Amino acid sequence: MKIVNIVGARPNFMKIAPLIKSMQAHRLIHPLLVNTGQHYDVNMAGRFFDDLQIPRPYVSLEVGSGTHAVQTGEVMMRLEPVLQRECPDLVVVVGDVNSTMAAAITAAKLQIRVAHVEAGLRSGDRGMPEEINRIVTDSISDYLFVSEESGIRNLSNEGVDKNKIFFVGNVMIDSLEASRRLWAQSLILDRLKLVKGRYGVVTLHRPSNVDDPKTLVGLMEALCDVAARCPLIFPVHPRTRKALLAIEHLDSVLHFGDGPTPPTGIHCMEPMGYIDFMALVASSRLVLTDSGGLQEETTVLGVPCLTLRENTERPVTVTHGTNRIIGSSPMRLREEARRILDAPPPAPGSPPLWDGHAADRIVNILVEKCSR
Ligand code: UD1
Repeated sequence: MKIVNIVGARPNFMKIAPLIKSMQAHRLIHPLLVNTGQHYDVNMAGRFFDDLQIPRPYVSLEVGSGTHAVQTGEVMMRLEPVLQRECPDLVVVVGDVNSTMAAAITAAKLQIRVAHVEAGLRSGDRGMPEEINRIVTDSISDYLFVSEESGIRNLSNEGVDKNKIFFVGNVMIDSLEASRRLWAQSLILDRLKLVKGRYGVVTLHRPSNVDDPKTLVGLMEALCDVAARCPLIFPVHPRTRKALLAIEHLDSVLHFGDGPTPPTGIHCMEPMGYIDFMALVASSRLVLTDSGGLQEETTVLGVPCLTLRENTERPVTVTHGTNRIIGSSPMRLREEARRILDAPPPAPGSPPLWDGHAADRIVNILVEKCSR
């Protein structure tokens, strides 16, 4: 079985790594990796290949940044000849970024079967580009691999044939578990002069939080208040960096650099590699984020997580995990952070099948179904 696997943007790498590893170990599968290049900076893409031991891609499409239509169109135009040349038995896409949807459409139109890993997640918020990507990708995929039970319900409600749906667990947690020994040995806390449990981690990159200066300033002011009690490490996404640098009066309160962390305040840094970032999150007192994946990682690590969004497509992180969806109100952010800092840390727990073996389950199902 020849399988083309697609990656493109940062959150794809930790999902594809365990799948490629499991495919490589299977004698019936010949996996190929195609990197669309949606993300291209070393800190957003290159380091993840090393940290997660992902093999060099067979093809890099180098699509880069652009509007949604440009990025989607470029992936489709550049991927089509690769798929025509290779004639794979299957294309595997992961997650919900533009590359995911573009690759799924390209393959489906060439009559190549598509497997979507992390299928069925729905926030109900079509204002998020990722929600459109999820709906389109799921609607044209042949195999829908679901990470949490809400995904089964969502797909069933949309009338998807239940024979296409497979509840397999969470491949991102496979990566977290497989690299546990490595991140447990990371020296990032020493390098930043941090004490376990005495700092928080921030990530922000959703257009709804960072593109409007008023919203971003409100959030940064609230984060500054939290950081007066508990220093916050903030690896800054390139989209957010541009937005922050455009706001003049923030210069004086943000410290950029990778030296020791001041005892209070927000310590802004370049985006981090996977191993150091997992080490940082695992030992933190709280996480404030608008990321999807981090809601899941904090759940397994037992770190309290405040999600600065109005909704989540990952409800199991709220019912089984440590996540709270608090929206983008600065006042609510201050209150919820205070509540966490005043209470003892929760015990970690894991949703069903988030056990580090999701990729093996997926590969076994693919072999069984596709080699018939
Ligand atoms: C994309 C995904 C989002 C995911 C996020 C993780 C879509 C629609 N969005 O959003 O779901 O959570 O990645 O990071 O697919 N840039 C760089 N260097 C890079 C990549 C981007 O400087 O390597 C800058 C560019 O100025 C670009 C901007 O960041 O315009 C945004 O990048 P883009 O890929 O369009 O969207 P993200 O916000 O990263």
